[in-house]
Amino acid sequence: MSAQPIGIFDSGVGGTSIWKEIHTLLPLENTMYLADSANAPYGPKGKEAIIDLSVKNTEYLLSKNCKLIVVACNTATTNAIDYLRSNYNVPFIGIEPAIKPAALQTKTNAVGILATKGTLSSALFSKTSTLFANHIKVVEQIGDGIVELIESGKLQSEEMKALLKIYLEPMIKANIDYLVLGCTHYPYLIPILVELLPKHVKIIDSGEAVARQTKAVLEQYDFLNTETRPPRNEFYTNGNQDIMKQLLGKDFVVDCLDF
Ligand code: DGL
Repeated sequence: MSAQPIGIFDSGVGGTSIWKEIHTLLPLENTMYLADSANAPYGPKGKEAIIDLSVKNTEYLLSKNCKLIVVACNTATTNAIDYLRSNYNVPFIGIEPAIKPAALQTKTNAVGILATKGTLSSALFSKTSTLFANHIKVVEQIGDGIVELIESGKLQSEEMKALLKIYLEPMIKANIDYLVLGCTHYPYLIPILVELLPKHVKIIDSGEAVARQTKAVLEQYDFLNTETRPPRNEFYTNGNQDIMKQLLGKDFVVDCLDF
């Protein structure tokens, strides 16, 4: 069991930000990453469609013998993880916007959250937000268009900068001191966000926490890889290989696959 890969999926290339955290913490693990870029973005889709796509990705990863699945997508986690957990036997790790640490640490009593429509409108997000952030101001912003720009290779574009400027304006006006990134594509925006935000605003995302949780669950199930062979890290996309390589680095091999 231990040498079987950790399966990771996202609606596209964004979940590679989570893969990087997992690989840093668990460098001996074999991994298999699926980027469902052909169906990105998931954000504007309804719950049923997000569940169907998550099932498709899960079944592919299970057919490749994955021992645990990381849903490296806030939109898929907040809409589909309950379904996945009740229908499949492997452990699932999900990712949700880190609203709790932001709400606990804010000094201005105002935090911003940038996420997809699917995440912000989910019952899971509203439950977490009500539980931890009822006492502060939460400026929610749907990141319409951001995932599409990243998926089409326009991460570093004027278009992206202009869009982010619009999205950050109400947050800056509300005097936020924390910006929560609620989508796994968004950590790639950090250099631009730092440029656009006032110096005192801290940016947080859940990537490291997901990696720690993945390690804890592997330990709990006694699933950690004990083989000494160098691990295999496989990346598959049903979209553009080059865009994914740009985010991972040129030494990585990305294969095209219909799934
Ligand atoms: N990476 C996905 C997330 O974390 C992007 C969602 C989308 O495809 O719209 O929510």
